[in-house]
Amino acid sequence: MTSALLLGATKGLGLELAREGARRQISPIIYGRSVGNPNAITEAPHGATLHRLDLQSRDSVMQVPLPDQPVAYVLWIAGAFHKAPLEHTDPDDIDLHTDLHFRGPVHFLHRFLRHRLEPFHLVTIGSVSSWRLREDEALYCGLKAAQTAFTRNLAVELARDRPGARVTVVNPGGLNVPTFWEKMPQDLSGFLDPAMVARFVWDSVAEQRGPYREIQIMRPKPAVVGSPPLIEYGPRCPEVLDGAAPRGSV
Ligand SMILES: NC(=O)c1ccc[n+]([C@@H]2O[C@H](COP(=O)([O-])OP(=O)(O)OC[C@H]3O[C@@H](n4cnc5c(N)ncnc54)[C@H](OP(=O)(O)O)[C@@H]3O)[C@@H](O)[C@H]2O)c1
Repeated sequence: MTSALLLGATKGLGLELAREGARRQISPIIYGRSVGNPNAITEAPHGATLHRLDLQSRDSVMQVPLPDQPVAYVLWIAGAFHKAPLEHTDPDDIDLHTDLHFRGPVHFLHRFLRHRLEPFHLVTIGSVSSWRLREDEALYCGLKAAQTAFTRNLAVELARDRPGARVTVVNPGGLNVPTFWEKMPQDLSGFLDPAMVARFVWDSVAEQRGPYREIQIMRPKPAVVGSPPLIEYGPRCPEVLDGAAPRGSV
């Protein structure tokens, strides 16, 4: 059975990606902070391998076990929302978000690249926030932009050094994932269904032939429950302040 390593898949979109992969005979290797926590709901698919990993802890990132078998897919998913003016953000939160969204995953990927030398398919779950202009989200949007820019450039190395390697960046719009929005509760009924996004991601991965692909998957606006997502292929030019009000929501 083919394996997929999922970085941040104990809940939300990551868990849906693990479940959908398992339905396609892709055995999930799940990494997440709440693995082993009896209070956390981790309905991992049958047969999944679970590893406790805190991307905000350098020791955890450097010591967590890596797979001994070849891994066909690596999905970089972990993230957390943050919305506040930078001026009012706690300095510790700047470090924690930077570690979660960038430093921790980059160190993990660095370890993984040295550990497994075969080609693999890297799938990065970015966000439309990597190119959108939003109020009070400079830290979150900046880190999602760093994640996607890093992935685009790592694709150059993987294509050169590991023939057959593939890279996909998927930038979703707002997802109906209550855990992600728990600090900012709102009506999520018009947001994208994470199970549908997971199916779309695996379909896109299966049909990809070239070394790199970037996809935007957005919810239609105004929101109409049940209507299909808007799909765009290719990167988006970042929005800039031009006198128009930035968007406050996804
Ligand atoms: N929800 C949206 O509207 C939306 C839209 C666009 C993009 N995204 C992106 O989609 C990705 C998944 O988000 P989601 O909506 O599925 O949110 P979620 O339900 O909150 O899931 C986040 C995942 O990241 C993991 N994680 C968080 N902190 C971690 C840490 N310190 N170490 C290891 N793992 C950690 C969580 O695991 P633990 O709980 O076990 O720590 C969980 O598996 C994120 O990168 C997010 O930026 C989300």
